[in-house]
Amino acid sequence: MLKTDICGVQFRNPLMLAAGIMGSTASSMNWVLKSGAAGVISKSFSLKPHPGYKNPTTVAVDGGIINAIGLSNPGVDNFKEELKQINRDNNVVIASIYGATPDEFTQLVEEINPIVDMIELNISCPHAMEGYGASIGQDCNLSHTIVSASKDASEVPVIAKLTPNVTDITEIAKTCENAGADALSLINTVGPGMKINIDVAKPVLFNKFGGMSGKAIKPIAISNVYSVYEAVDVPIIGVGGVYTFEDVVEFIFAGARAVQIGTAIMDEGVEVFSKINNDLEEFMKNKGYSSIDEMVGLAHGGE
Ligand SMILES: Cc1cc2nc3c(=O)[nH]c(=O)nc-3n(C[C@H](O)[C@H](O)[C@H](O)COP(=O)(O)O)c2cc1C
Repeated sequence: MLKTDICGVQFRNPLMLAAGIMGSTASSMNWVLKSGAAGVISKSFSLKPHPGYKNPTTVAVDGGIINAIGLSNPGVDNFKEELKQINRDNNVVIASIYGATPDEFTQLVEEINPIVDMIELNISCPHAMEGYGASIGQDCNLSHTIVSASKDASEVPVIAKLTPNVTDITEIAKTCENAGADALSLINTVGPGMKINIDVAKPVLFNKFGGMSGKAIKPIAISNVYSVYEAVDVPIIGVGGVYTFEDVVEFIFAGARAVQIGTAIMDEGVEVFSKINNDLEEFMKNKGYSSIDEMVGLAHGGE
């Protein structure tokens, strides 16, 4: 009943782990899969190891958290060893990669193709170094170049993850679709945001600015999914502030075929996956829905 399909890849339910939370080691990703997620997305990684920003890198605020981790990761060679140890039996393994040039993305894609089911392109991190992350996803030409280079090099479906921090997300979405993206994930964190420590009169985060995630960004994510659903034909994966089955249903009605969960795990633990799956199935039975497929986009059309 809960199964869903994203561009031909089968998921046993519509829940997956969002990039950057519990996605650095095989053991934590296997734990998330055992806890009920149908798929996991790794922490975003690059060709070479990258230290990221100094602490503090996250701070809690009303409605969520602000983070500026700075894409710290041990590089593709190390990450490959982790990815190989994830249990792929009836689970979907997705690698999130980032770089600055088409060549970097192509090299990463070629390295990881054989060991994952899908690849998500992080062209949307709002606190990445200049030239990376949202500096790509805020520019149609750069997005097109990176997505098409990655797609050409890939034998598995390619997902472009979009930033909401743009004037019109449907333009970027259409560009990525035209460049060959098989699916779109939206949204990455919102911002930049900032929290000031009033005792020392300084921003809390080392990087000062960070991306906002959690409950407060859900309405923004829902409206972005809704708008993009009307603009493209490729499947959409919703992300931003999913805590409950009601949130998942909202995303599906807006047009998503699956959702990713990040910040909620910090508040609710990995149990959030099985709880949502159980509640979602109950909701579907009560309302007479027999598949996720028939629920996708129901909030569109009509008066
Ligand atoms: C601590 C933290 C680290 C993150 N790291 C990444 C990352 O490496 N790559 C990426 O594409 N998104 C990253 N994100 C964004 C999430 O994948 C997600 O898009 C965002 O947090 C909204 O979902 P949520 O409200 O469920 O957390 C990160 C978010 C947080 C909170």
